[in-house]
Amino acid sequence: MRIPFIAGNWKMNLDRRSALELVEGLRRRVGERRDVEVAVFPPSVYLDEIARALMGSPIRVGGQNCCDEESGAFTGEVSATMLADVGAELVLVGHSERRHLYGEGDELIRRKVHAALDAGLDVILCVGETIEEREAGHTEQVVARQLRAGLEGISAPEMARVTVAYEPVWAIGTGHTATAAQAGEVHAYLRGLLEGLYSEPVAAATRIQYGGSVKADNAAELMAVTDVDGALVGGASLKPEAFLPIIEFSG
Ligand code: PGA
Repeated sequence: MRIPFIAGNWKMNLDRRSALELVEGLRRRVGERRDVEVAVFPPSVYLDEIARALMGSPIRVGGQNCCDEESGAFTGEVSATMLADVGAELVLVGHSERRHLYGEGDELIRRKVHAALDAGLDVILCVGETIEEREAGHTEQVVARQLRAGLEGISAPEMARVTVAYEPVWAIGTGHTATAAQAGEVHAYLRGLLEGLYSEPVAAATRIQYGGSVKADNAAELMAVTDVDGALVGGASLKPEAFLPIIEFSG
Protein backbone atom coordinates (compact mmCIF):
# COMPACT_ATOMS: atom_id res chain seq x y z
CA MET A 1 0.00 0.00 0.00
CA ARG A 2 1.08 3.56 -0.65
CA ILE A 3 1.69 5.56 2.52
CA PRO A 4 0.47 9.15 2.01
CA PHE A 5 3.34 11.57 1.56
CA ILE A 6 2.93 15.24 2.51
CA ALA A 7 5.79 17.55 1.54
CA GLY A 8 6.25 21.23 2.39
CA ASN A 9 8.09 23.25 -0.24
CA TRP A 10 9.15 26.45 1.49
CA LYS A 11 10.48 28.01 -1.74
CA MET A 12 12.46 31.23 -1.05
CA ASN A 13 10.67 32.03 2.21
CA LEU A 14 11.43 32.24 5.94
CA ASP A 15 14.64 33.17 7.69
CA ARG A 16 16.79 31.08 10.00
CA ARG A 17 14.81 31.82 13.12
CA SER A 18 11.33 31.37 11.63
CA ALA A 19 12.47 28.19 9.86
CA LEU A 20 13.66 26.71 13.15
CA GLU A 21 10.43 27.74 14.89
CA LEU A 22 8.41 26.10 12.15
CA VAL A 23 10.23 22.75 12.40
CA GLU A 24 9.98 22.81 16.19
CA GLY A 25 6.21 23.21 15.87
CA LEU A 26 6.03 20.37 13.34
CA ARG A 27 8.35 18.11 15.26
CA ARG A 28 6.27 18.29 18.42
CA ARG A 29 3.05 17.38 16.62
CA VAL A 30 4.15 14.93 13.95
CA GLY A 31 5.82 12.70 16.56
CA GLU A 32 6.13 9.08 15.61
CA ARG A 33 3.23 8.79 13.17
CA ARG A 34 3.86 5.97 10.73
CA ASP A 35 0.65 6.28 8.69
CA VAL A 36 1.85 9.36 6.84
CA GLU A 37 5.26 10.43 5.61
CA VAL A 38 6.25 14.09 5.99
CA ALA A 39 9.12 16.04 4.46
CA VAL A 40 10.15 19.70 4.37
CA PHE A 41 12.16 21.45 1.67
CA PRO A 42 13.98 24.47 3.12
CA PRO A 43 16.12 26.88 1.12
CA SER A 44 19.52 25.19 0.69
CA VAL A 45 21.40 27.57 3.03
CA TYR A 46 19.24 26.39 5.95
CA LEU A 47 19.28 22.69 5.10
CA ASP A 48 22.11 21.75 7.42
CA GLU A 49 20.57 23.42 10.43
CA ILE A 50 17.05 22.18 9.71
CA ALA A 51 18.30 18.62 9.20
CA ARG A 52 20.01 18.80 12.60
CA ALA A 53 16.91 20.24 14.24
CA LEU A 54 14.88 17.31 12.89
CA MET A 55 17.36 14.59 13.83
CA GLY A 56 15.55 11.71 15.48
CA SER A 57 12.20 12.90 14.10
CA PRO A 58 10.42 11.03 11.27
CA ILE A 59 10.17 14.30 9.29
CA ARG A 60 12.56 14.12 6.34
CA VAL A 61 14.44 17.02 4.79
CA GLY A 62 15.06 17.73 1.14
CA GLY A 63 16.55 20.25 -1.26
CA GLN A 64 14.39 22.29 -3.66
CA ASN A 65 16.73 21.82 -6.60
CA CYS A 66 20.14 20.38 -7.44
CA CYS A 67 22.75 20.68 -10.16
CA ASP A 68 22.93 18.00 -12.83
CA GLU A 69 26.71 17.87 -12.39
CA GLU A 70 28.55 16.40 -9.44
CA SER A 71 31.25 19.04 -8.94
CA GLY A 72 33.31 21.58 -10.83
CA ALA A 73 33.14 25.08 -12.24
CA PHE A 74 29.40 25.70 -11.91
CA THR A 75 29.16 28.99 -10.03
CA GLY A 76 26.10 29.29 -7.84
CA GLU A 77 25.06 25.66 -8.16
CA VAL A 78 24.66 23.04 -5.43
CA SER A 79 25.23 19.37 -6.22
CA ALA A 80 23.04 16.49 -5.10
CA THR A 81 26.05 15.07 -3.24
CA MET A 82 26.37 18.34 -1.29
CA LEU A 83 22.69 18.24 -0.37
CA ALA A 84 23.13 14.68 0.89
CA ASP A 85 26.29 15.72 2.75
CA VAL A 86 24.36 18.24 4.89
CA GLY A 87 21.53 15.86 5.72
CA ALA A 88 19.07 16.07 2.82
CA GLU A 89 17.42 12.78 1.92
CA LEU A 90 15.39 14.00 -1.02
CA VAL A 91 15.25 16.65 -3.69
CA LEU A 92 12.54 18.27 -5.81
CA VAL A 93 13.28 18.07 -9.53
CA GLY A 94 11.40 19.82 -12.30
CA HIS A 95 9.29 22.10 -10.12
CA SER A 96 7.26 24.38 -12.37
CA GLU A 97 9.09 27.45 -11.07
CA ARG A 98 12.37 25.86 -12.20
CA ARG A 99 10.84 24.93 -15.56
CA HIS A 100 9.09 28.21 -16.25
CA LEU A 101 11.01 30.93 -14.37
CA TYR A 102 14.48 29.46 -14.93
CA GLY A 103 13.94 27.76 -18.27
CA GLU A 104 14.79 24.21 -17.20
CA GLY A 105 13.93 21.80 -19.99
CA ASP A 106 13.19 18.08 -20.03
CA GLU A 107 16.75 17.06 -20.82
CA LEU A 108 18.27 19.03 -17.92
CA ILE A 109 15.59 17.67 -15.61
CA ARG A 110 16.38 14.12 -16.72
CA ARG A 111 20.04 14.66 -15.88
CA LYS A 112 19.10 16.08 -12.46
CA VAL A 113 16.97 13.03 -11.67
CA HIS A 114 19.95 10.80 -12.43
CA ALA A 115 22.38 12.99 -10.44
CA ALA A 116 20.05 12.94 -7.44
CA LEU A 117 19.47 9.19 -7.45
CA ASP A 118 23.19 8.55 -7.97
CA ALA A 119 23.94 10.72 -4.94
CA GLY A 120 21.58 8.60 -2.83
CA LEU A 121 18.74 11.13 -2.69
CA ASP A 122 15.10 10.25 -3.25
CA VAL A 123 13.40 12.37 -5.91
CA ILE A 124 10.08 14.15 -6.24
CA LEU A 125 9.68 14.65 -9.98
CA CYS A 126 7.17 17.43 -10.68
CA VAL A 127 5.05 17.59 -13.82
CA GLY A 128 2.17 19.83 -14.82
CA GLU A 129 0.56 21.81 -17.60
CA THR A 130 0.06 25.55 -17.97
CA ILE A 131 -3.43 27.01 -18.33
CA GLU A 132 -2.88 27.52 -22.07
CA GLU A 133 -1.90 23.87 -22.45
CA ARG A 134 -4.96 22.73 -20.49
CA GLU A 135 -7.32 24.95 -22.48
CA ALA A 136 -5.85 23.66 -25.72
CA GLY A 137 -6.57 20.10 -24.57
CA HIS A 138 -2.89 19.22 -24.24
CA THR A 139 -2.70 18.30 -20.56
CA GLU A 140 -2.07 14.58 -21.11
CA GLN A 141 0.44 15.20 -23.86
CA VAL A 142 2.43 17.63 -21.69
CA VAL A 143 2.54 15.56 -18.51
CA ALA A 144 3.34 12.43 -20.54
CA ARG A 145 6.27 14.16 -22.20
CA GLN A 146 7.57 15.48 -18.87
CA LEU A 147 7.16 12.11 -17.12
CA ARG A 148 8.79 10.06 -19.89
CA ALA A 149 11.69 12.47 -20.25
CA GLY A 150 12.27 12.79 -16.50
CA LEU A 151 12.31 9.03 -15.99
CA GLU A 152 14.32 8.05 -19.06
CA GLY A 153 17.01 5.58 -18.01
CA ILE A 154 15.60 5.14 -14.50
CA SER A 155 15.27 1.45 -13.62
CA ALA A 156 12.30 -0.23 -11.97
CA PRO A 157 14.21 -0.74 -8.67
CA GLU A 158 15.17 2.95 -8.68
CA MET A 159 11.50 3.87 -8.98
CA ALA A 160 11.11 2.87 -5.33
CA ARG A 161 12.95 6.15 -4.62
CA VAL A 162 10.89 8.33 -6.94
CA THR A 163 7.65 10.16 -6.13
CA VAL A 164 5.77 11.95 -8.90
CA ALA A 165 4.05 15.27 -8.14
CA TYR A 166 1.27 16.46 -10.42
CA GLU A 167 1.23 20.23 -10.11
CA PRO A 168 -0.89 22.09 -12.64
CA VAL A 169 0.98 25.37 -13.16
CA TRP A 170 -2.31 27.32 -13.04
CA ALA A 171 -2.98 26.01 -9.53
CA ILE A 172 0.37 26.89 -7.97
CA GLY A 173 0.21 29.86 -5.65
CA THR A 174 -3.03 31.05 -7.25
CA GLY A 175 -5.66 29.74 -4.84
CA HIS A 176 -7.26 27.89 -7.80
CA THR A 177 -6.93 24.27 -6.73
CA ALA A 178 -7.71 21.56 -9.26
CA THR A 179 -11.00 19.88 -8.46
CA ALA A 180 -10.87 16.35 -7.11
CA ALA A 181 -12.14 15.18 -10.52
CA GLN A 182 -9.46 17.10 -12.45
CA ALA A 183 -6.69 15.80 -10.19
CA GLY A 184 -8.11 12.27 -10.29
CA GLU A 185 -8.12 12.19 -14.09
CA VAL A 186 -4.50 13.25 -14.45
CA HIS A 187 -3.29 11.06 -11.58
CA ALA A 188 -4.97 8.00 -13.10
CA TYR A 189 -3.45 8.87 -16.47
CA LEU A 190 0.04 9.20 -14.91
CA ARG A 191 -0.33 5.87 -13.15
CA GLY A 192 -1.29 4.28 -16.45
CA LEU A 193 1.84 5.76 -18.02
CA LEU A 194 3.98 4.34 -15.21
CA GLU A 195 2.43 0.93 -15.85
CA GLY A 196 3.37 1.18 -19.52
CA LEU A 197 6.89 2.42 -18.78
CA TYR A 198 7.53 -0.13 -16.01
CA SER A 199 4.94 -2.61 -14.79
CA GLU A 200 1.69 -2.83 -12.88
CA PRO A 201 3.47 -3.40 -9.51
CA VAL A 202 5.76 -0.38 -10.04
CA ALA A 203 2.79 1.79 -11.02
CA ALA A 204 0.83 0.57 -8.00
CA ALA A 205 3.71 1.30 -5.64
CA THR A 206 4.68 4.77 -6.93
CA ARG A 207 3.21 7.66 -5.01
CA ILE A 208 1.71 10.53 -6.97
CA GLN A 209 1.28 13.74 -5.00
CA TYR A 210 -1.01 16.57 -5.98
CA GLY A 211 0.31 20.12 -5.66
CA GLY A 212 -1.19 23.55 -6.28
CA SER A 213 -2.97 25.62 -3.60
CA VAL A 214 -3.46 22.70 -1.23
CA LYS A 215 -4.89 24.00 2.05
CA ALA A 216 -6.43 22.57 5.19
CA ASP A 217 -9.92 23.05 3.73
CA ASN A 218 -9.35 21.18 0.45
CA ALA A 219 -6.78 18.56 1.53
CA ALA A 220 -9.28 15.96 2.72
CA GLU A 221 -11.25 16.05 -0.54
CA LEU A 222 -8.13 15.79 -2.69
CA MET A 223 -6.58 13.05 -0.54
CA ALA A 224 -9.78 11.01 -0.83
CA VAL A 225 -9.19 10.61 -4.59
CA THR A 226 -7.98 7.06 -5.35
CA ASP A 227 -4.80 7.97 -7.16
CA VAL A 228 -3.83 10.97 -5.02
CA ASP A 229 -1.20 9.74 -2.57
CA GLY A 230 -0.19 12.95 -0.88
CA ALA A 231 0.43 16.61 -1.41
CA LEU A 232 3.23 18.96 -2.30
CA VAL A 233 2.35 22.10 -0.40
CA GLY A 234 3.86 25.56 -0.89
CA GLY A 235 2.21 28.53 0.84
CA ALA A 236 0.33 26.46 3.41
CA SER A 237 3.53 24.70 4.56
CA LEU A 238 5.02 27.87 6.07
CA LYS A 239 3.06 27.82 9.33
CA PRO A 240 2.43 24.84 11.62
CA GLU A 241 -1.24 25.81 12.01
CA ALA A 242 -1.71 25.65 8.22
CA PHE A 243 0.47 22.60 7.51
CA LEU A 244 -0.45 20.32 10.42
CA PRO A 245 -4.15 19.97 9.50
CA ILE A 246 -3.09 18.92 5.97
CA ILE A 247 -0.91 16.19 7.49
CA GLU A 248 -3.71 15.15 9.79
CA PHE A 249 -6.26 14.86 6.96
CA SER A 250 -4.08 12.45 5.09
CA GLY A 251 -3.34 9.71 7.61
P1 PGA B 1 1.26 26.35 -3.46
O1 PGA B 1 2.64 25.76 -4.11
O2 PGA B 1 0.80 25.30 -2.46
O3 PGA B 1 1.69 27.63 -2.79
O4 PGA B 1 0.31 26.52 -4.57
C1 PGA B 1 2.76 24.40 -4.42
C2 PGA B 1 4.10 24.12 -5.04
O5 PGA B 1 4.61 24.96 -5.78
O6 PGA B 1 4.71 23.07 -4.77
